[in-house]
Amino acid sequence: MAYDAVPMTLAEGKRVVVTELGETPPDAIENHVVVEPMPAPDPKTLEPNDVIVEVRSASVGWVDVIMTSGQYQHMPAPPYTPGLEYAGVVAWAGPEVKNVKVGDAVLSDGLLTGPRSLGAYRAWGGWASWAVAPSEAVHKIPGELSFDQACNLLGNYETAYHCLIARGRLRAGETVLVHGASGATGLAAVQISKIVGAKVIATGRSEEKLAIVREAGADHVVSTRGEDGGLRAFRDDVKALTGGAGVDVVYDGVGGDISVESLRCVRFGARFLIVGWAATPFVAKGKGGRGAPNANVLPTNLIMMKGLDVLGCPAAISTLHDPSIRPPRLAQVLAWAEEGKITPHVSHRFPLAEIREAMRAKWSGAVIGGAVIHPR
Ligand SMILES: NC(=O)c1ccc[n+]([C@@H]2O[C@H](COP(=O)([O-])OP(=O)(O)OC[C@H]3O[C@@H](n4cnc5c(N)ncnc54)[C@H](OP(=O)(O)O)[C@@H]3O)[C@@H](O)[C@H]2O)c1
Repeated sequence: MAYDAVPMTLAEGKRVVVTELGETPPDAIENHVVVEPMPAPDPKTLEPNDVIVEVRSASVGWVDVIMTSGQYQHMPAPPYTPGLEYAGVVAWAGPEVKNVKVGDAVLSDGLLTGPRSLGAYRAWGGWASWAVAPSEAVHKIPGELSFDQACNLLGNYETAYHCLIARGRLRAGETVLVHGASGATGLAAVQISKIVGAKVIATGRSEEKLAIVREAGADHVVSTRGEDGGLRAFRDDVKALTGGAGVDVVYDGVGGDISVESLRCVRFGARFLIVGWAATPFVAKGKGGRGAPNANVLPTNLIMMKGLDVLGCPAAISTLHDPSIRPPRLAQVLAWAEEGKITPHVSHRFPLAEIREAMRAKWSGAVIGGAVIHPR
């Protein structure tokens, strides 16, 4: 990938700051998100294993947005700079750094640096001109990925890998029903399911988005939008596409009504993967109030009579509990990207100054796959 060099002196830049948690993401977007000047990091204050990255593109993901109201399980203390994942160019590398050098194009690991991480590098979110990371938290950008694609790689594809492969044990020849398939993790799930050799039935609410989902490899797409704008019953479509048998696996990143309808079109003994709840984001209280007053509910009679395995699939939390699951997952995702087998789709790009528009686009569902901001 060709890109402009980093200037010799690190100039002042800009960063996004969330000044306090919102009641909801729209409240945070309209009232608590500011763009402010940012001094360049001073190498004299950094560790010998650190790198400074000039951020060229940062993902504006669902998790970034829901974090701004404290309705995500992991909560940074405001004021903070969001941006779980970014890609850019190494502008400075400490004397002990071995894996990258100045001028390399890299992507960040959102579990080891930025607001989703634990510890000292939490302060360095990617919605900024500059970020600092320990060297193990940056990887050379694999294959032909652009900066925009690279910052949409790890979180999305590692999630889909964890859900489908580690938890779901998806095998060649099986059929998987992917909900939220036009989303960032959903498109990753479609692509990984096809690599595994499974048949994919993908759902969504918009024909335009479903066209991209089909391009990503889905064998069948099914609309879930009813004429009144509510949920359209899709059980008969899925049953027809599986010869009456029902699917082997459900990948559910949407939650709410769609989950219950899904339980009616699975085969006996199917695996039901709980990935997220994009349709019911206000499970927890706003402003970081915790609790789960609006938790999703699944009918135990259907789970019991169909002998289902209902599997919670939190990729980051599972990794904290068992760090050994990470290396094979990370290696596989980077290898697939290197080989050109997986390619993140990015539909929306904004300058950093238009961060509110970027967040609104993600929150409103206008985005297909990823949205990014460009600090310069
Ligand atoms: N398990 C994990 O480790 C993990 C990791 C990352 C994210 N997640 C969770 O997974 C879920 C999806 O994340 P994502 O990053 O893929 O989000 P995303 O990019 O915003 O995609 C969500 C998709 O859900 C669909 N959807 C259906 N009903 C919706 C509704 N009422 N409101 C909004 N979207 C709706 C949309 O597709 P259509 O418009 O086509 O219907 C949208 O493309 C979120 O709950 C997120 O927190 C879980």
